[in-house]
Amino acid sequence: MSDDGVLRDVLLRWHAGWVTARDYRSAVGGDAVTVRIGLPERVTETILLSSDPVLYSDAAARLGGPSQWLTAPTADRARTEAAAAAAGFTVHAPEWLMSRPLDDHPAAHAPDGYELWLSGRHPILVAEVVTTGGESHTLAAKGHLALSGDDAADAVADRIFTVPEHRRRGLGAVVMGALTTSARERGARSGLLVASAEGRKLYERLGWRVEAEMAVAHWSGHAAPEEPADPLE
Ligand SMILES: CC(C)(COP(=O)(O)OP(=O)(O)OC[C@H]1O[C@@H](n2cnc3c(N)ncnc32)[C@H](O)[C@@H]1OP(=O)(O)O)[C@@H](O)C(=O)NCCC(=O)NCCS
Repeated sequence: MSDDGVLRDVLLRWHAGWVTARDYRSAVGGDAVTVRIGLPERVTETILLSSDPVLYSDAAARLGGPSQWLTAPTADRARTEAAAAAAGFTVHAPEWLMSRPLDDHPAAHAPDGYELWLSGRHPILVAEVVTTGGESHTLAAKGHLALSGDDAADAVADRIFTVPEHRRRGLGAVVMGALTTSARERGARSGLLVASAEGRKLYERLGWRVEAEMAVAHWSGHAAPEEPADPLE
């Protein structure tokens, strides 16, 4: 398979788990997936399945409109940002499509003062780390994972977060270890996710690798001129 074919396959597999994790509807057509998000500020999100800059420019020009989002892998962020701006899209902070085989994913027990709760209903898994010791439990960290693909072989992690005052105590790693262990026990073999900059640091520490940089943009309607206007004209 060509590099673009491999990227397309990974993106399709990630998207399938992501829409499952969030209960979104989606349709694949040509080089794009259209996801019905249904939020006032994010009605539809189009995910491009290639980093071809021409495909990106065409899609941005065609898809601009209120509450439209456009997500695509990029091999040239500056060029993607310029094409997005010319069509009225604003690009967010970089994110990264990442993957990891699950067979040797690290897993750790919750540290003293915390306990781990696992829940969810197939094909969704939910891991929560809560405080112990007081009258009630307080949420400190949480994550979701959806099993998808043939034989539920893919495990797509989503909405992994640690409450700010509980960060850098290993709780994000506990959540990821619990989700991936549970997914593996249910037959999943590969992990996939799209990471924020902070998330990427956690996942790299756990052995995940970057498949592609992603550019996520929303339409703001403020199209930037492609060439700066000449003030003397
Ligand atoms: C990303 C996030 C979940 C990490 O949670 P956490 O509980 O702080 O992570 P851990 O304590 O388990 O980190 C384990 C290791 O990962 C690495 N790591 C995690 N966060 C890091 C950061 N912000 N900077 C550098 N390294 C980091 C470190 O190697 C860390 O070990 P160390 O603290 O001994 O150095 C948390 O920062 C967060 O919720 N961020 C906002 C939401 C978000 O971006 N979520 C990810 C979506 S993809």
